[in-house]
Amino acid sequence: MKIKGYFRTAIFAIIVFAVLWYILDLTMIGLVEQPLVILGFVVLLIAILFNGKIVNNLRESRANNSTNEENNSKNGWYKSLMKALTSTKPMDEEDDILMDHAYDGIRELDNDLPPWWLYGFYASIIYAIGYLSYYHLMDGDDQIVEFNKEMAQAKIDVDEYKKTAKNLIDASTVELMTDEADLANGKTIYAEKCVACHLADGGGSIGPNLTDEYWILGGGIKNVFTTVSEGGRDGKGMIPWKSELKPGEIAQVSSYILSLQGTTPTKPKDAEGDIWNAEEAVEE
Ligand code: HEC
Repeated sequence: MKIKGYFRTAIFAIIVFAVLWYILDLTMIGLVEQPLVILGFVVLLIAILFNGKIVNNLRESRANNSTNEENNSKNGWYKSLMKALTSTKPMDEEDDILMDHAYDGIRELDNDLPPWWLYGFYASIIYAIGYLSYYHLMDGDDQIVEFNKEMAQAKIDVDEYKKTAKNLIDASTVELMTDEADLANGKTIYAEKCVACHLADGGGSIGPNLTDEYWILGGGIKNVFTTVSEGGRDGKGMIPWKSELKPGEIAQVSSYILSLQGTTPTKPKDAEGDIWNAEEAVEE
């Protein structure tokens, strides 16, 4: 009988939490991942269970006063825990702490403060001293400073991540690479795949001159990246390289090509296409 009631409470609480959880998850994404929210749920569950136990015990001892002794021994650990937490007087000693006054028959017991509360109170005083001195006397980081620090750290982390995740880029996010290592890699790729048509110094043979400021398909890192990954116009001979090169490699070889701008090849091919003006392109 007692056990049953117990379980009913627990199951009911868990169902309520599950529903709450679901709703919170839908409406406030991220909130349920907070460890404090989870801790709150657990504490509430324990509180509900304890409450059920107390109510059960009261009910039982009322209904079954004669077998109180037996009850006591059965729930010994629990009783002594409750006694330690609340330090209440047993009912038959209540006369000792009954106060003199009575209002309309309502009397008052002069109970000790419950230790669980009292020590919690002391703990909060000690905490307050620490809090006050850290935040107000020693100028500890407040939320804004903490936030800014976290954002700065996050930026460092993102930059770090981007370095290792070069292949996440596409034509819209690619930026000109200036790192020695990237350009060296680009040069290797160029020597391997592109020299046949563009020549080692970029002067051009089957493919156009890559060192001048004239571009058939548009200059600037974004256009060059697109040309290299998607290929040139149909039938001209410049194939799409995206199946052979990773996005990071396309960015490297494109950056390498652009680093050739303004150099003078031994046998430059005549300019093809239009002068590329980066500023005009931005306005477009
Ligand atoms: C088979 C010959 C061939 C190879 C190999 C080749 N290209 Fe090309 N490339 C061309 C031709 C031809 C064009 C002109 C395309 C057009 O007119 O549409 C071109 C155009 C380009 C352009 C655009 C130039 C402009 O003026 O807009 C770039 C950039 C380019 N190639 C880079 C590369 C890179 C990088 C590689 C190596 C990964 C490469 N090409 C390999 C033949 C080649």
